[in-house]
Amino acid sequence: MTNIESVHAYLRSHPGRWLVTGCAGFIGSNLLETLLKLDQEVVGLDNFSTGHEHNLEEVRLLVGAAQWKRFKFILGDVRDGLACREAVAGVDYVLHQAALGSVPRSIDDPVATNDSNINGFLNMLVAARDARVKSFVYAASSSTYGDHPGLPKVEECIGNPLSPYAVTKYVNELYAQVFARCYGFGSAGLRYFNVFGKRQDPDGAYAAVIPKWIAAMLADAQVLINGDGNTSRDFCYVDNAVQANLLAATCPRDGCSEIYNVAVNDATTLNRLFDYLRTILRANGVTVTREPAYAAFRKGDVRHSQANVDKAIRELGYAPLYRLYEGLEATIPWYLEQLG
Ligand SMILES: NC(=O)c1ccc[n+]([C@@H]2O[C@H](COP(=O)([O-])OP(=O)(O)OC[C@H]3O[C@@H](n4cnc5c(N)ncnc54)[C@H](O)[C@@H]3O)[C@@H](O)[C@H]2O)c1
Repeated sequence: MTNIESVHAYLRSHPGRWLVTGCAGFIGSNLLETLLKLDQEVVGLDNFSTGHEHNLEEVRLLVGAAQWKRFKFILGDVRDGLACREAVAGVDYVLHQAALGSVPRSIDDPVATNDSNINGFLNMLVAARDARVKSFVYAASSSTYGDHPGLPKVEECIGNPLSPYAVTKYVNELYAQVFARCYGFGSAGLRYFNVFGKRQDPDGAYAAVIPKWIAAMLADAQVLINGDGNTSRDFCYVDNAVQANLLAATCPRDGCSEIYNVAVNDATTLNRLFDYLRTILRANGVTVTREPAYAAFRKGDVRHSQANVDKAIRELGYAPLYRLYEGLEATIPWYLEQLG
């Protein structure tokens, strides 16, 4: 049995109560779906700022009626300390995902990003500490590596942040460490590297590269590549991120605060990503005829990003089951159904 299979078996026989903040978003709704399918009780908190009711509706249709009954949704904001306290009451495990994502959004509006990502984070941390939850896992970010040139990235070697978003995610880690030191309140921060998969929003100015490109290809629009296309990323299929959350939440912490990279240790250039998408779409009956256009590099973006995931493998028993290509093969049918 793999570690994640053991965790699933444990949770089925010891159902817990979970809080997923940001449950109407991309990663949050995937966590919600998995937890409900494991017969857990889940409280979800979201303000629908970037998440959608239709994500929750989709989860409702994917799980059984009995499992859906174990879900309680709170329309609320992590910037509101009272909402955080209400949400965390009686909860065993917290998976804190709510935040404003996107480097460009944070450059356009650093105050909004700061409010949700730092004030909201601190509210959740205080509420979870006071509620004496068993476990607090939060969405950290590979953006914390900033301008550090080392590759692949190891958790302890970070550089200077390159965007307000990166500052907020680093401050989360600092608060988490200080809460371990001052209050003995342990936590696990998962530094996600470009997570992708079903329910990632393809719309809007701040859409992530994979859903944005799939949507463009399906609309026969030209894909725009920022930079020369040799920028590389360690793209991580969402099931790997869900796995890391469950492993981290059920791993004893002893009041310590730890950080883990969550990806696959595999760098792919944007040019190659374009080819992969075109190939998989063709296998699904969609021919992409237009070549991509190239634009200027984006402010705040790092050039290369690749994760060393040894720490998560060693300490959490993390075993990413999907590499980029398989993750895209699993993802594209969902976009075809939604947008095709
Ligand atoms: N997707 C990635 O590649 C990636 C990479 C690194 C880190 N992260 C982090 O992972 C988490 C989830 O990201 P995602 O990609 O699912 O984004 P998402 O935008 O789909 O989900 C975020 C959710 O949080 C909610 N939210 C935002 N501010 C809130 C607030 N103040 N109160 C309550 N709810 C609020 C949104 O409505 C949304 O449903 C975020 O913390 C993000 O910073 C994501």
